[in-house]
Amino acid sequence: MDAFYSIAIDGPGGAGKSSMAKKLAANFGFIYVDTGAIYRTVGLAAYRAGIDRKNESAVAKLLPSLDISMRYNDAGEQRMFLNGEDVSGEIRTPEISICASDVSALPAVRAFLLEMQRKLAREHNVIMDGRDIGTVVLPDADLKIFLTASAETRAKRRLLELEQKGINTSFAEVMKDISYRDEQDSSRAAAPLKAAEDAVVVDTTSLNFDESFALLCELVINTLAMDRKD
Ligand code: DC
Repeated sequence: MDAFYSIAIDGPGGAGKSSMAKKLAANFGFIYVDTGAIYRTVGLAAYRAGIDRKNESAVAKLLPSLDISMRYNDAGEQRMFLNGEDVSGEIRTPEISICASDVSALPAVRAFLLEMQRKLAREHNVIMDGRDIGTVVLPDADLKIFLTASAETRAKRRLLELEQKGINTSFAEVMKDISYRDEQDSSRAAAPLKAAEDAVVVDTTSLNFDESFALLCELVINTLAMDRKD
């Protein structure tokens, strides 16, 4: 039995994975790992390098030169660093969302980031969110949640979140980003977005934040009660 708990939350963009995972982590004393931010950092690096982000050999050539790291600030927020520079804000724009989705379809990129993610789960109680956490990264996670909602609901939530971060965009642009990524993330050959067979599927289309959070809390409490690590 592993020494630490791991909880996987997968689902499409804008389903509320990160806000749920962040709050669950704070509530249960786990660290929150936003794996999308790691792919976004690679996407930003490819964007800055001006290379074709769908060209696997071009992107693979870039990878060894990248120093990607994450740190947690005093508020427990995950900050992303690319070659020592804090890029946590820059990786959130719709343009970089697309770059992240593009590079994340490449097996070389997925292999490059796999061990970084698994190491975190070996050393901490983690709540990790992404697309393939329950299926590939942590297939033995203690709890797997597949969080989803209709595309329109996700676009509305994402728009609000971006506005709160001071990023200026429109509903149409966010909807375009969500549709593009839904299609690409689900149809790619390498670790496509899909619910693990043993995942609990939670559709939050008609639930508000508090209702969704209460439901997830119940799942976590049941898991901790069933599988004690002491
Ligand atoms: O969760 P996010 O929207 O920040 O993720 C950005 C992109 O990264 C997403 O379109 C797909 C990719 N991604 C992935 O392929 N695997 C993960 N575990 C997390 C994100």
